[in-house]
Amino acid sequence: MTKRKTSNGKGQGNKAKKGSKNGRGSNSWKKQNGPRKEFVKKEFTRHIPVLLQSVLEQLDLKKGQVFVDCNLGDGGHSEEVAKTMNGDITIVGFDLDQDAIARAGSNFEIAFKDLEKKPNVIFINDNFRNLTKALDEKGISKADAILYDLGLSSYELEESGRGFSFRKDEPLIMTFSNKRNETGNESTTDEMTAKASDVEFTAEDIINDWDEENIRTIIESYGEDKFAWKIAKGIVKARELERITTTAKLAEIIKQSVPGFARFGKTHPATKTFQALRIAINDELNALTETIPQAMEQLSEGGRLVVISYHSLEDRIVKNFFKKFEEEEKGRILTKRPIVPTEDEMDENPRARSAKMRVFQKI
Ligand SMILES: C[S@@+](CC[C@H](N)C(=O)[O-])C[C@H]1O[C@@H](n2cnc3c(N)ncnc32)[C@H](O)[C@@H]1O
Repeated sequence: MTKRKTSNGKGQGNKAKKGSKNGRGSNSWKKQNGPRKEFVKKEFTRHIPVLLQSVLEQLDLKKGQVFVDCNLGDGGHSEEVAKTMNGDITIVGFDLDQDAIARAGSNFEIAFKDLEKKPNVIFINDNFRNLTKALDEKGISKADAILYDLGLSSYELEESGRGFSFRKDEPLIMTFSNKRNETGNESTTDEMTAKASDVEFTAEDIINDWDEENIRTIIESYGEDKFAWKIAKGIVKARELERITTTAKLAEIIKQSVPGFARFGKTHPATKTFQALRIAINDELNALTETIPQAMEQLSEGGRLVVISYHSLEDRIVKNFFKKFEEEEKGRILTKRPIVPTEDEMDENPRARSAKMRVFQKI
């Protein structure tokens, strides 16, 4: 594994070194929640919050303030924010995935039991591209810090059964929202019912119904895979025989489509195609492009916008927005270079390895 050194160009990098005074990071998570591996085996796969200590530092929240977590997931970041504030905080947690909302809710119940004060938690089961509208509906006019921790959680990857992983044999769905599986009785809020149309489109539709050129284009643009044309050709040829409905089948088709030397490398040849499909199905880049200006508007003066991205396409969008905001004199970029995980964190949590965090402060 290629190791990156912590760096943000301003000496404010993630200080979560093993044994360091402030070295809470994922180690502190382990101290407070018990050994991660045991936790995973006995309970369920809980997502390990990435760059945790840096996130807490960069959000720079004070007691009594409003924190908006646009990617709640299992609630790892929010939970630590609340603990740091001894519960004296309002947390607004967005997630498209109903399971995430439910899981974060039960994690919070346990985590907040002994806090001096119970945090005011508001869950929003919606896409963060609707940030302004959703906050308005909840009567929240300003946020003191907003966090994006983009992409998918460990639960979604490993346990949701929605086909995010090429290492599993699951239906090709790949939506963050799981409303297509709902029975109806979970759909108790307006947010949930109003968004049901978000999930009518799945990875199976792209793979089986799109023409070769369009499949190639998304693999090229969202996966940046140099064998995109070979993979698209392989998919179209295979689907002539039968509809491609599972991740295992698709992964095998991709493996057979790339040149021999690319089949057995360190990275599975389906990695980039799966990323591309997920980005396309969830319209991830457009959602990010729509939400960041809304987040700037929602921030109070001096408020911080913190974004953790996991691939260059997302990071480029964030970087360009921050540059534009600075040119428009809306505030300043606090991370001339992105903050990245330490080697320790990457060893402990390999999913953190591609993380890049950028921070902007509004004036
Ligand atoms: C990387 S996980 C967040 C993990 C979380 N920070 C934690 O520590 O547990 C990303 C979460 O964002 C959600 N998500 C992705 N895109 C979204 C969007 N456009 N709107 C709302 N939630 C989204 C996913 O469903 C997933 O639960």
